[in-house]
Amino acid sequence: MAKRSISYICQNCGAVYQRWQGKCDACGEWNTIAEETAAVASVPSSQRPRSRGRVFALEALTGETGEAPRLVSTIGELDRVTGGGFVRGSVLLLGGDPGIGKSTLLIQSCAALARAGHRIVYISGEEATAQVRLRAERLALADAAVELASETAVEDILATLEHGPAPRLVVIDSIQTMWTDTVESAPGTVTQVRGSAQALIRYAKRSGASVILVGHVTKDGQIAGPRVVEHMVDAVLSFEGDAGRDFRILRAIKNRFGPTDEIGVFEMTGLGLREVTNPSALFLSQRDLGTPGTAVFAGMEGTRPILVEIQALVAPTTLGTPRRAVVGWDTARLSMVLAVLEAHCGVRLGGHDVYLNVAGGLRIQEPAADLAVAAALVSSLTGASLAADGVFFGEVSLSGSIRPVAHAGARLKEAAKLGFQRASGPVPASESAADGGLLIDGVTSLATLVATIAA
Ligand code: TYD
Ligand code: MG
Repeated sequence: MAKRSISYICQNCGAVYQRWQGKCDACGEWNTIAEETAAVASVPSSQRPRSRGRVFALEALTGETGEAPRLVSTIGELDRVTGGGFVRGSVLLLGGDPGIGKSTLLIQSCAALARAGHRIVYISGEEATAQVRLRAERLALADAAVELASETAVEDILATLEHGPAPRLVVIDSIQTMWTDTVESAPGTVTQVRGSAQALIRYAKRSGASVILVGHVTKDGQIAGPRVVEHMVDAVLSFEGDAGRDFRILRAIKNRFGPTDEIGVFEMTGLGLREVTNPSALFLSQRDLGTPGTAVFAGMEGTRPILVEIQALVAPTTLGTPRRAVVGWDTARLSMVLAVLEAHCGVRLGGHDVYLNVAGGLRIQEPAADLAVAAALVSSLTGASLAADGVFFGEVSLSGSIRPVAHAGARLKEAAKLGFQRASGPVPASESAADGGLLIDGVTSLATLVATIAA
């Protein structure tokens, strides 16, 4: 006989507790712990009969794989992030805030693949088939042979999928609406989301289909977040951008079959998501030319150079502890650049609030942005605007010297392509041939740069 056991599970990260508490110790979120019941076998595992096990065949590493292992979606920005298409038998989780455009992106790629002759199944647990169809019509995709269903019972979905020719791609929108018979908890709880994901992952491995699970990022812990399945799947992509702006950035957080540093850039339009193949032009399209406090950073996202504007505001403060606020960059990195400016360049910022923003909603992770940040800060403090046709890149060391960064050639080439005339940054002799005719100021110390700006 099965006995019911009650446990308290964090709906954000899946940590299990014996009793309820307000804050999850594992992930630090508040009010995310909910009561869940699970049926457990009443026979202790030590008394259960041991299974003899089934003998299976071992295979060689160099086996015949038959069909192409990857399914190329034909949406270039999506393929860039997955590492060249959806891998056969793999499971990908697409996470993001509600309303960011996950369903739109997926219906667009499903339609493109169905048009290429693949069997594609789209299961929506959130919208009725009529709603999905309506959206497809609006996007002029209604003629694509995508097979639709509005279902939430995992066992029924699997039975349907195993019937007929194996689909090449199955989209489950969203994993939080799915429920499986094998688990007793309510849909949307950690146990259900995990149980459903497990069943779908087993299906992918068995059938060779690629499965995409949509996961809503939740702030309030009402339903389980995508984090509880992140470690179970092969790849995790996150779709970001704020609802007020039209850019959307697709980023790989985990990828067993590809890089994790590439980003895909899209623009939400009245006709769905449009690929942005030249993101630099988009990020620089609304520049405040000639305003003090802005500098253009020649950055890299994976293998692609991306130019983006760094905005700084340095203002006198009356607070005892001045404010440091950063959007799109690392706060610790900003503190370091501020300390180097104070210690080695004579720039006094202790009596000033500092605000830093990366334009266009991009999140920069490279230390190569140090020099552009420093230039924007000094420009804002002194009121001297930087040359509108210049870009910056370079890592600042604690001693105030400027260190070379990777891919200087690619950064310079992108800047030249967008009409920039000059660059400040360390360029090794081997890369200078690729500079595209830019005037290069090979600064080697931050103090020199500060003196040039202030002069
Ligand atoms: P959706 O794909 O439903 O988001 P998610 O699945 O991540 O919750 O996108 C919904 C938003 O996108 C909604 O605010 C309307 C907007 N949108 C457009 O601007 N243009 C379009 O062509 C479509 C289909 C949606
Ligand atoms: Mg949706």
